[in-house]
Amino acid sequence: MGLDALALSLRENEPVPGDQVAAVERLLQRRLRGESVARIIGDKAFYGLDFGLNAATLEPRPDTELLVDLVLSGLKPAASMLDLGTGTGCIPIAILVNRPDVTGLATDLSPLALEMAEDNARRHQVSDRLRLARGDWFAALADQTARFDLITSNPPYIASEIVESLAPEVREFDPRLALDGGPDGLGPYRIIAAEAGRWLTPGGRLVVEIGYDQGQAVAKLFSAAGLVEIAVHKDLAGLDRVVCAHHIGAA
Ligand SMILES: C[S@@+](CC[C@H](N)C(=O)[O-])C[C@H]1O[C@@H](n2cnc3c(N)ncnc32)[C@H](O)[C@@H]1O
Repeated sequence: MGLDALALSLRENEPVPGDQVAAVERLLQRRLRGESVARIIGDKAFYGLDFGLNAATLEPRPDTELLVDLVLSGLKPAASMLDLGTGTGCIPIAILVNRPDVTGLATDLSPLALEMAEDNARRHQVSDRLRLARGDWFAALADQTARFDLITSNPPYIASEIVESLAPEVREFDPRLALDGGPDGLGPYRIIAAEAGRWLTPGGRLVVEIGYDQGQAVAKLFSAAGLVEIAVHKDLAGLDRVVCAHHIGAA
């Protein structure tokens, strides 16, 4: 109805016009078909900030806030960061809002997701510090020569056949490109493990979100790729949720 909480309580005894009742009915029907409230209103709060959503973006999840916490607790001054598969841009935008000295590059395969990330960066006044590039994982960096102090990613990590069994809210409304991590769900981590060292500064940090049962498998991939100081962190539910690693490489 376009009213905020205060206006609603001040006008709660006024009759609601028929066209507005019909509009609310239409929204209710969408909810009954399984669409989340965040998708219906087109906005989702993440790390205390509101992010716009569109059909190509995953709805940011509270689980991902742990990744932002871990990054912010150990980020060196004036760091440069790369976020792979940025969706709404929630990860780099939350980091840049909290760290005015940090600059970043955010990538996604979906042009429509990047449009949303651009809107969100503008909304939170970090567009002058966040560049966007489209492409398949590291291929988006074709024109880039400088390395990064931090690489973050919350890639699609659900095994293809499991995607079909997810709740309708997720399966039918979150984009498949944001969910499907290939036959065993680990496809994007293999690519990230193989190429992160090439793009991190010596001592640079890699921080990725994982599925609750992927901690050991992702830690193993990172270790096999030569990354060190690998740690698996648990979320508030006690489930493995984030893997951190470091690159000890020559400049
Ligand atoms: C799980 S979503 C995460 C979105 C956002 N980072 C977040 O945490 O809410 C994964 C993102 O990776 C993107 N993606 C999928 N395949 C990709 C690829 N091959 N290259 C780059 N991005 C990709 C999707 O479009 C989606 O935005």
